[in-house]
Amino acid sequence: MPLVSGHEVIAKCTEEKLVAGAFNTTNIETTMGIVEAIERTGVPTFIQVAPTNAVLSGFDYIYDMVSRRLADCPVPVALHLDHGKSIQPVKDALAAKFTSIMIDASEEPYEENVRVSQIARDLCGPEISLEAELGSIGGKEDDHGPEIANSTDPSQVADFIAKVGCDMLAVSVGNVHGYSPDARIDFDLLSKVREASSVPLVIHGGSGLPEEQLARLGEFGVVKVNVASDLRNAMIRSFGEAYNANPDEVSLIRVSKQSVNAIADVVERRIRMFNPSVN
Ligand code: 13P
Repeated sequence: MPLVSGHEVIAKCTEEKLVAGAFNTTNIETTMGIVEAIERTGVPTFIQVAPTNAVLSGFDYIYDMVSRRLADCPVPVALHLDHGKSIQPVKDALAAKFTSIMIDASEEPYEENVRVSQIARDLCGPEISLEAELGSIGGKEDDHGPEIANSTDPSQVADFIAKVGCDMLAVSVGNVHGYSPDARIDFDLLSKVREASSVPLVIHGGSGLPEEQLARLGEFGVVKVNVASDLRNAMIRSFGEAYNANPDEVSLIRVSKQSVNAIADVVERRIRMFNPSVN
């Protein structure tokens, strides 16, 4: 089916009490692996890319690749901009027909975060879903990360959502980008944020979190969990293993296909972990 708006993924997941994975793509292997896993599980999902990962294949290529592969997929999927750090990537992703957007001005002072996020809201209009971030998430994504991580302050949540009008709120509650031994959800804080929030929550940093915590996120108003490092590592590991097995290997397509399977297995495991009720 054609790409759907993020609104549709959120609505379906909320209705069916599911948590959508949001898996970062970079290239065709990652895209094929993600969609294979979506087809195996049937759970509505976001496929996303951050500007840092679209430097080889710009947003247009990503849109073409993802939408072409999804044409035969019966499960609703939205194409989401991850970590638009300024207005320009938001404009670029909208021009490339992305169906969901994240504005991340979370490192700015509160009022500036509100101001920039409001501009993104206006650009998205009512059709395109908007995720904004309050509190900044630690760790690094492709060598980029905030100087200081700040937890989400529950007392700011209602005001921020009312002023921005975002459809989802990304929160910093102990989650960290990348593999970090310190990543641990503070469920007390997450509960307080949830009580203050009128919109579903988003957890970034899905790769490093303990599995038993990932399985509980749906009980706390979380509708979207981002996962990137696990997929990237699966692909790199797959190529490394192929090289170690045979340093003279020249069948790029064989190794590429192995990496697609490795990525699909990782994504399927994550989707099932977020949704213990899915068979
Ligand atoms: P991980 O790399 O820890 O899975 O985080 C991904 C992410 O949150 C993308 O926004």
